[in-house]
Amino acid sequence: MPLGATAIQWSGLHMRNVVIFGAQWGDEGKGKIVDLFCEKFDIVARYQGGHNAGHTVLIGDRKFILKLIPSGILHPGKRAVIGNGLVVDPAALLSEIESLEAAGVDVAGQLSISNRAHVLFPHHRTMEQMLDAAIGTTSRGIGPCYEDKAARRGIRVADLLDREHFGAQFEALAQEKETVARAFGIMDPPDLQQIRARYEGYAERIRPMVCDTARLLNEAIRAGKSVMFEGAQGTMLDLDHGTFPFVTSSSASAGGASTGTGVPPTKIDAVVAVAKAYVTRVGGGPFPTEALDAMGDRIRERGNEFGSVTGRPRRCGWFDVPLMRYAAMLNGIDSLVVTKLDVLDELDKIPVCVGYRCGRHEVAEIPPTSRGLETVEPVYECLPGWQTATAGISRFEDLPENARQYLAYLENRTGVEIGCVSTGPERNQTIVKRGSRFENLFS
Ligand code: IMP
Repeated sequence: MPLGATAIQWSGLHMRNVVIFGAQWGDEGKGKIVDLFCEKFDIVARYQGGHNAGHTVLIGDRKFILKLIPSGILHPGKRAVIGNGLVVDPAALLSEIESLEAAGVDVAGQLSISNRAHVLFPHHRTMEQMLDAAIGTTSRGIGPCYEDKAARRGIRVADLLDREHFGAQFEALAQEKETVARAFGIMDPPDLQQIRARYEGYAERIRPMVCDTARLLNEAIRAGKSVMFEGAQGTMLDLDHGTFPFVTSSSASAGGASTGTGVPPTKIDAVVAVAKAYVTRVGGGPFPTEALDAMGDRIRERGNEFGSVTGRPRRCGWFDVPLMRYAAMLNGIDSLVVTKLDVLDELDKIPVCVGYRCGRHEVAEIPPTSRGLETVEPVYECLPGWQTATAGISRFEDLPENARQYLAYLENRTGVEIGCVSTGPERNQTIVKRGSRFENLFS
């Protein structure tokens, strides 16, 4: 469908609750987009992940890296919700709260934390040290905390706040972990009493912000308020649909918005994906279009592709149409935001992967195994670059012809509308395509 065409007449009036999520392997630039458009919503709710995510938001000369707290917090009067689908490290949360408060943000007045979110403890990080390093996790203990959730022995925020029972629950869990750690030869047993006391202290600090956020959100929606659901990581890191086992441990696709907040799917009106004009991934796992040559290095340097949480260099490669079509199928994307277009400004040719082959055969489906995806050969088409600066352009008509052609090509190949383009990190370095669904959703 060409840019600007709309299959359905959208009415802004009904488009109240929108999911914004990453369509690739994370780091797509969701933070800026959420921050930019959250003005249109009453509430911004995170639905999965933990402090493995890092959303960078630039406001003037101030840079905020938000890991757990939704970027809506930077907008006075907006409610920011940490949903039940997250795993919360209270130490990380409190340090984020403190830096926001130091910048004058009314965190206590704006933040609500789900009483059903799971609590991350130091032993989760210890457990992670024992795992196979091939996945290249962020080493924050996220996976082991979700493991405890799935094993039904995890401790939730409501348990942490329950003064009578928390101590016994914590000790049972921590002792079990210690036994495992000893078996793996990790000595230095932690001082459990000290950790317990520390967490009891955290409990009192977060208590005023904790509530049943599913109820809060559903009541707000019933009262006519609008919610933006903010995803972390991206579809290709989704526990079910991503490049398993090289994935994170939560539902990073749009569907996670419902389970991770307790808002039913029938109350979610639209799904907006964010993707880079190229692709990056951090950590191990298949990456069919990875550019292992000087071009990859060039993109990394120009795009400053280093993890905002871990500082690790990101692997860089070319836009992958089959993966985007897969993401579109899984998430029902209404509109796509393409970020970091300006990073490609200098290139004379831009390869785009339009299909996969295996030997002489076309690969019609995304292989379900990582090994399968590792063996596909991407089929590229090379598009002419524009070799003109696009950084900061804020009107679609002002983009160089070849940049517009590039976007139109991606749109035609993926079948997904590109309704918004980001040409730099600042709020004003953003193009909203006139007449797009995106414009209708956010105007
Ligand atoms: P974990 O989420 O720390 O368990 O890491 C699992 C995989 O997800 C690793 O490949 C990480 O690099 C990746 N990952 C986790 N969070 C992010 C993120 O915010 N951006 C990009 N990759 C991420």
